[in-house]
Amino acid sequence: MCGIVGYVGPRDAVPIILEGLHRLEYRGYDSAGLAVLTRNGQVEIRREVGKLSNLDGLIAAEPLTGSPGIGHTRWATHGKPTRYNAHPHTDPERDVVIVHNGIVENFLELREELAAEGIRFASDTDTEVIAHLIDRYLHAGNDLVTAVRHALQRLEGASAVVVMSRHMPDTLIAARLGNAGGVVIGLGEGENFVASDIPAILPYTRRMIFLENRQAAVVEPERVRCFHLDTGVPFQPTVHTIPWDPLAAAKGEYKHFMQKEIFEQPQAITDTLRGRINFTTGEVTLEGLHLSPAEARALTRIHAVACGTSYYAALVGKYLLERIARVPVEVDYGSEFRYRDPILAETDVVLAISQSGETVDTLAALEEARRKQVRTWAIVNVVGSQAARVSDGVIYMQAGPEIGVASTKAFTASVVDEYLLALYIAQQRGLLTRQDALTHARALALLPKLVGDTLAAVDSITRELATKYYRARNFLYLGRGIHYPIALEGALKLKEISYIHAEGYPAGEMKHGPIALIDEDMPVVALVPQDHVYDKMVSQVEQVKARDGRVIAIANVGDELIAQKADDVIYIPKAPPLLQPVLSVIPCQLFAYYVAVRLGNDVDQPRNLAKSVTVE
Ligand code: F6R
Repeated sequence: MCGIVGYVGPRDAVPIILEGLHRLEYRGYDSAGLAVLTRNGQVEIRREVGKLSNLDGLIAAEPLTGSPGIGHTRWATHGKPTRYNAHPHTDPERDVVIVHNGIVENFLELREELAAEGIRFASDTDTEVIAHLIDRYLHAGNDLVTAVRHALQRLEGASAVVVMSRHMPDTLIAARLGNAGGVVIGLGEGENFVASDIPAILPYTRRMIFLENRQAAVVEPERVRCFHLDTGVPFQPTVHTIPWDPLAAAKGEYKHFMQKEIFEQPQAITDTLRGRINFTTGEVTLEGLHLSPAEARALTRIHAVACGTSYYAALVGKYLLERIARVPVEVDYGSEFRYRDPILAETDVVLAISQSGETVDTLAALEEARRKQVRTWAIVNVVGSQAARVSDGVIYMQAGPEIGVASTKAFTASVVDEYLLALYIAQQRGLLTRQDALTHARALALLPKLVGDTLAAVDSITRELATKYYRARNFLYLGRGIHYPIALEGALKLKEISYIHAEGYPAGEMKHGPIALIDEDMPVVALVPQDHVYDKMVSQVEQVKARDGRVIAIANVGDELIAQKADDVIYIPKAPPLLQPVLSVIPCQLFAYYVAVRLGNDVDQPRNLAKSVTVE
């Protein structure tokens, strides 16, 4: 949720940190700050409420230079978004200065203990206790690394921390406790970087180390020394090379990252298919999974766990996996899974779906699975993320960085990966004839082009309809079967960035309640592709019209009947039924985008939201 950037090396840390924070803007935050060690060895801090441009303004008015440095964007959990609650936090003598992501669950207890020793607090945050604790252990005669270790061992809950001190210049100490977001160390030449997310430091290096739970590192310009936080024992970390092109993390010709990422979907789907399906034989290879034919046949159930948009992708995946691989699938919210003591069999698999791979609820579901000794797989976009590291098998989305807070290309990439997974399991179980495999492969081969055609077909009509409907305060999205999750996703997209209330509903359920809401002020977006429930959807559109509702239909090119029934129609190309949702979600994404733009909202940084949710 909060973003962290740190730099140690010969350059001035301030512009590097500010630039890194700007690249993390998408995470969502309410205040920001940075601290550097100045040339004369003093800690200087600047903090400001609101957008990063406010911090830029403050630094322009009150410049500072130095190295090393640490910066932070805050998403408030303890204490209001004010300047004094913004990070970095320090002790009265400014011996130690820290930035923090996560929650110190025992902070009240620690705060009372420190207050009893006469320590006065300058903020309402849980973070500040960490700075005082480290300072206290320093004053007790420990060196900085030992002081940090002792202090962090006192914390309960998940935290990621970066520490800087005037007592150990040219050094940052980074640590990870639990799943409070990532701690990435970027390896440069004579300089090193620390961040919560890869994009913050991607322009400087692609060589990165990811800290695991209860690991820490002393980061100096020429070396990085990793150690286990509890024992202090050093270890040799794995250095990962990130395949992302730094340019991919820039907006380019687009006005917003969300718009760019919507239009990147043909490429993202091509990339996620790349190397995984042989288009002449239909054979699917998912190297990260290691599923023998015997294990595939023994597979009894898949429990898909995810949050938000990834949860809706999992709902689509249920249709795909059950239909193609004939494996029963249950879908759970990450935040619910572990609290219902799920019944998991030895031959089941828990499948996490997560763009960031750092969503704490999804990680908790994976932990629950591991605790119950059940095999885990993850469909993940961010290389080296926690979900990818802790799972027994990984399918990377290969969709490139997704920066817009509202997830778009990760949704379609996940659905395609679920399709591949379904084919892979079916193949390993011996369920696919050669002809079936080829039919599926051909359908997938055509998909990127169909997605491109859909974008071309719906861009201007969704913009026009946004202008027509943006004043509505409520929307209903209806779909059936595999399009029900698309109705949910369409409604979520609209809510997130336009702040208009929207509900997704299975169309057949409408008459059991929501129909009471229908009037001319509540537009209904109906997903009406020409599939096996087409007639039923048409009749639901008629029921809405009979109650003076206004209907925007998303339908297949050539469907003239729907044009007579609905007020407006968005035509999309026809795809095989199991791939049609990949196309029908696109007008939903673009409609939400254009409504938000029409309302003048901050599309890439919607209020109250964060890109990866690393607190419970
Ligand atoms: C919606 C959105 C969120 C995420 C959710 C899960 O547009 O972005 O609902 O989908 O927070 O995030 P990941 O996929 O990173 O686990």
